Amino acid sequence: MSNKGPIGIFDSGYGGLTVLKEIVEQLPQYDYLYLGDNARAPYGTRSFETVYRYTLECVQWFFDQGCSLVILACNTASAKALRTIQQNDLAKLGTDKRVLGVIRPTTEIIGSFSETNAVGILATNGTVQSNSYPIEIAKFYPKIKVYQEACPMWVPLIENNEYQSAGADYFVQKHIKNLLAKAPNIDSILLACTHYPLLMNKIKQWTPQGINILSQGKIVTDSLKEYLHRHPEMEAKCSKNGAIAFFTTDSTEDFDSHAANFYGKPVKSRHLAL
Ligand code: DGL
Repeated sequence: MSNKGPIGIFDSGYGGLTVLKEIVEQLPQYDYLYLGDNARAPYGTRSFETVYRYTLECVQWFFDQGCSLVILACNTASAKALRTIQQNDLAKLGTDKRVLGVIRPTTEIIGSFSETNAVGILATNGTVQSNSYPIEIAKFYPKIKVYQEACPMWVPLIENNEYQSAGADYFVQKHIKNLLAKAPNIDSILLACTHYPLLMNKIKQWTPQGINILSQGKIVTDSLKEYLHRHPEMEAKCSKNGAIAFFTTDSTEDFDSHAANFYGKPVKSRHLAL
C-alpha cells in the first residue's frame, strides 16, 4: 500500500477555503482533503477544552484517510488546540505525522510589514482570549506592540451571507474604529481569522489609507512551500494527482452553496458524520 496521501486542510467551517484557494493556486500538483466542521461551528466562542476535543477528532479523521500532513487553516483551532496536539497527541497518533497551524507562519513575518512597530489583530473571541498573537509575535519581534480587537459578529455575518449588507458595514466600522482607538499609530492590521477575507472590501473601505491589511492565504502558502522544501521526507508522503475532495460535518447542500464564495469556484462536498 502507498504511504502517500493528500494534504489535510481543516477549518471549523468555510474560512479555511480562503487558505486552500491560495495553496491550490500555488501548489496545484498535490492532492488535498478539506474538512469543514460546520455542524459544530463557530469555534470562536467555545472553550479551550471543546475546541481541542473537536479539532483532535478531525485530525484523527485526516490521519485515518491517509494524510501525513494536516494544516489547521483556522486561527481558533491553531490557538486553542495545536500545541496540545503537537506535544501530547502526535506521539500516540503517529510520530511520522505532522500538524501545522496558521499562527506561527504569520507571526514569523508580521514584523516585516510594520514600520511603526504597532500591529493590530482582528480575530474571534477565542483567538484574542488565547493571547497567542501577542505571545508569539513577542518571540520574533520584541519591539512590536500588539493591539487586539475581537469581532464576534463577523463570522456569523459571513456564514449567513450577510457580508455585503449594511449590517456588515456597521460591525466592520465599529471594530476597526475600536482597534485604531487603542493605538492611532497602528500601520498594519492582520485579519487573524480565515473567514475575514470575505469582508476585505468593507474592511478596506473603513480603514484609513496607508494601513496595511494582511490576510493569511498567501502567508500560509509561502510557509507551506518552504516547509515542504525543508522537509523532503514529509513532501515524499504527499500524493500528487492534483485531486481535491471536500467534506463537511453538516449539510452538503448548505456547504456547496456557501463554499464557492470562499473558494472562488463551485464545490461539491461529501458528508462526514462525527
Ligand atoms: N475561521 C476560524 C478562524 O480562523 C474561525 C471561525 C469560527 O469561529 O469558527 O479563527
